Amino acid sequence: MSGVSVLPDALEDALEESLGRFPVPELTRNVQTLIRQYREGFDRSVPALGSEAAVAAYAGYRMPATYSAVAAALRQVALLAPGFAPRTHADVGGGTGSAVWAANAVWPGLTDVTVLEQSASAIAFGRRLAARASAAAVREARWRQTVLDRGTAAPAADLVTMSYVLGELSPAVRDDVVRSLALESARHTGMLVIIEPGTPAGYAGIAAARRLLAEAGLHIVAPCPHDGECPIVEGRDWCHFAVRLNRSALHRRVKDGTLSFEDEKFSYVAASARPWPRAESRVVRHPLKRKGLVTLRLCTNGDGLADHPVSKRQGEAYREARDVAWGDAWPPPAV
Ligand SMILES: C[S@@+](CC[C@H](N)C(=O)[O-])C[C@H]1O[C@@H](n2cnc3c(N)ncnc32)[C@H](O)[C@@H]1O
Repeated sequence: MSGVSVLPDALEDALEESLGRFPVPELTRNVQTLIRQYREGFDRSVPALGSEAAVAAYAGYRMPATYSAVAAALRQVALLAPGFAPRTHADVGGGTGSAVWAANAVWPGLTDVTVLEQSASAIAFGRRLAARASAAAVREARWRQTVLDRGTAAPAADLVTMSYVLGELSPAVRDDVVRSLALESARHTGMLVIIEPGTPAGYAGIAAARRLLAEAGLHIVAPCPHDGECPIVEGRDWCHFAVRLNRSALHRRVKDGTLSFEDEKFSYVAASARPWPRAESRVVRHPLKRKGLVTLRLCTNGDGLADHPVSKRQGEAYREARDVAWGDAWPPPAV
C-alpha cells in the first residue's frame, strides 16, 4: 500500500462545490464536534449525521480518508482475486457514499449500486455528490433510508461493503448485522468487506466480525493468509494498515499549520463463500530496510507472526522485498 491516494476528480470537485455552500465557522464547529465524538465515543441516542452541516463537515473532514481506506482494502482484494468482477454492490451504512466511489474506482464494471443509510441528510448530500460522477453506476445508485437493527435483512449483491459503521452500532445490533451479512454472502457467494478505523477498538470490532464470518462458513480472503485464529493478542497489539492522502482544503482550514497529508489507519476483513486465492503471508509493519537486507514482519499461514529477513544474495526476492510495503501480500501476487 504505497503511494498517495487521490480522490477521483469528479468527487474532489463535487466536495469542493458542496462544502462551499456552508460558512467555514459552521463547518469548523461541526468538525470539532465530530473529532470529540471520535475521541470520546458516540451517544447512540443522537444520530451523528443529523444535520446538513454535520454531514457536510463529515464529508469534508472524513470522506477523503474513508474513501482512501476503502479503496486500499478493496485493491488488496482485487489483487488476490483478479477473476472477481462484481456487477452489483450494496454499501451498508453508506454515509455520503465513500465506498460507492471507492468500489467503482477498483471495479469500474459495477452496474448496479445500492446504499443503505439511516440519515436523510447524509443521503441527500451523498446523492448530490454522486450526481457528478462520470460512472453511471455511481450516478444512478439507489439510496435507501434504512436503520440497521437486529432484524434488518442483509442486501444481496456481488460485493457488500460496510465501512466505519460497526463502531456506531450497539454490540447486540453489531453482531446480528454481521451475522446476517455473512449468511447472505454465503448464499450469494459474493464478497463481503468490512472496514473500521485502525485503532485498537476498530481492530477489536474487525476481529469479532472475522470470527462471526468464519463461523458462518465464509473463507477469509484478506488481509489474513489463513482462516484460523488471529495470532495478534488483543490488548497488546492490533492488526491495521495505513494509506496516505492529501489533506482536503477543509481539513487544512480547520487544522491550520499542520501537515499537507495524513495517514489514515484502518483495519479490515474481506470474506467470501468462494475460496479465492489468498496471500501466502501479509506484511503487517513498515519493512525494515538496511543496506543489503530487508526484514519483513509477516502474518503467516501456519507460523503466526514472524520476522522474515530477505538479503541481497536472494536476488529477485530482495528486489521485490525492497518494493513491498506495509499491508501488501508477500510474496507479491502474480499479475
Ligand atoms: C462514520 S460514518 C461512515 C460512513 C461511510 N460508510 C464512510 O465510510 O464514510 C457511519 C455511518 O453509519 C450510519 N449508521 C450508523 N448507525 C446506523 C444504523 N443503525 N443504521 C443505518 N445507518 C447507520 C451513520 O448514519 C453514518 O452515515
